Amino acid sequence: MTDEAGTGIPTWAESDVGPVLVDEARLATRVAELGAQITADYAGEPPLLVAVLKGAMLFMSDLCRAIALPVDVDFMAVSSYGSATKTSGVVRIVKDLDSELEGRHVLVVEDIIDSGLTLNYLRRYLTARQPKSVEICALLVKEGEQRVDLDLRYIGFAIPPEFVVGYGLDVAERYRNLPDIRVYTAGEPE
Ligand code: IMP
Ligand code: MG
Repeated sequence: MTDEAGTGIPTWAESDVGPVLVDEARLATRVAELGAQITADYAGEPPLLVAVLKGAMLFMSDLCRAIALPVDVDFMAVSSYGSATKTSGVVRIVKDLDSELEGRHVLVVEDIIDSGLTLNYLRRYLTARQPKSVEICALLVKEGEQRVDLDLRYIGFAIPPEFVVGYGLDVAERYRNLPDIRVYTAGEPE
């Protein structure tokens, strides 16, 4: 991280993070499109939006404002065992939902699908609570990496199977506040 302009506002060295994969303008356009689609699909039946912390924090905050329905929002936190850049599929619920799901339409707001193991676990976990429906809205899906059929209703962008950061996504808790999505090139953090 450098502060070449001396503003006190952090900028990001190209050695830390690589090229921009999805810039701010494309993110904003796509989030608006997803919001409009969700608004049309759930007209008269506003869903409960469930975001998975922390990665989906920015996507959730932008997406919920792009939906012109009286939605409710709730959050879960999960921790998946594995290395800094790969999940194992073994998921632990760190913070559960505050809401009852029975009879409600649930729309899971996810940052990124890699192997799909985290989401596969979450879908089964949520479905067991008897919601009226469970659908998925994933901002990013890594192409060719999923070992399970995920039936994703809404997808922001299909991206190459590279590790990315920014717009909520981290490596070892860093880079979540980058306004765009970038390829992480510096290798696994210490
Ligand atoms: P999956 O279970 O392999 O699909 O991994 C999904 C979770 O791992 C996401 O919700 C993220 O928290 C994290 N993850 C996977 N790929 C990336 C990435 O490229 N950047 C940042 N986090 C990622
Ligand atoms: Mg996540």
